[in-house]
Amino acid sequence: MSSAALASMAMTSNKTMSQTTKEDNMILLSNATGWPGIETTADHLKNGMYGIDAMIEGINKVEAEPKVRSVGYGGWPNLLGVMEFDGGVMDGSTRQVGAVGALKHTYHAAQVARAVMQKLNHVMVTGDGADRLAAEIGLPKLNTLLENSKEVWLKKVKDLLSAEEFEKFPDIPLVPLNGAITDPEKVRDTTVFMCKDSNQGIHTATSTSGWGWKYPGRLGDSPIAGAGFYADSRYGAAACTHTGEMAIRTSASRTIILAMKLGYSLGDAVKLAVEEVASLEGGFLAGLVIHAIDNKGGHKVVSYNLDKAGKYWLWKPSMSKPELMESEMV
Ligand code: GLY
Repeated sequence: MSSAALASMAMTSNKTMSQTTKEDNMILLSNATGWPGIETTADHLKNGMYGIDAMIEGINKVEAEPKVRSVGYGGWPNLLGVMEFDGGVMDGSTRQVGAVGALKHTYHAAQVARAVMQKLNHVMVTGDGADRLAAEIGLPKLNTLLENSKEVWLKKVKDLLSAEEFEKFPDIPLVPLNGAITDPEKVRDTTVFMCKDSNQGIHTATSTSGWGWKYPGRLGDSPIAGAGFYADSRYGAAACTHTGEMAIRTSASRTIILAMKLGYSLGDAVKLAVEEVASLEGGFLAGLVIHAIDNKGGHKVVSYNLDKAGKYWLWKPSMSKPELMESEMV
């Protein structure tokens, strides 16, 4: 064989090796509620799309799916019967963040969070400002309260109040309802997606309607970078579902990434975050599910203080489609 042919073969084989390595490194993970959109995101990642855009394409479908009872259109309203959506995105290569809280007139919280990151010199916009931004990026005003959610909400409020209180509702103190209505259907979930894309960027995105029957204006961890989500392409990404208050109190997602920066393995980093959560005292304490990936294609999902293991979707290029897996109980 001529030396030119040998050189050309070596170049081809090098190219194949580097392409294979790049693809082998890709990973996509979402919690179980990601089912309406996980395949869409995996397909976009396969085609080389920027990870944040690929995840938002998938999350758009989760948010629009009424059968997902903790995110978007299928979620539960606040104590006043008003839907309030939270979401966040983080680009792990630039560590830019965008987040929205208490968005009311569209459930596409992740999309609006991306607009905060890409169009504003801010990282978080809430309330009327979030709805204004949604309109400015062309999102239509939607009816965000599902008829069934409205009926369930109203029945619960009627059950909790005396006839006299119901007559005056909502002009009554809501604080006394806080203990009674943490979450009647135990729905405190979110959708969290995280990926390493074909550019080796590690990113994450979240979207939720928050706790059902929450106090108006309550923000959970899903729009709080460092608590409900964090990404750093040098190390990995993490995101939490369930009791956001606990993730906020321990900066759970940032703890994991910082621990990996300090040399912890992915498993030990998640263990450290769980120890921090377990050390909390007082306040409202319940379950938390922690999802994390590292920069080597590893992943770890643990359910803390929950009755049963959580499920999550995992896709890697070696899989023909995303597979449903079970978290570890801790
Ligand atoms: N983790 C979702 C929330 O607490 O709102």
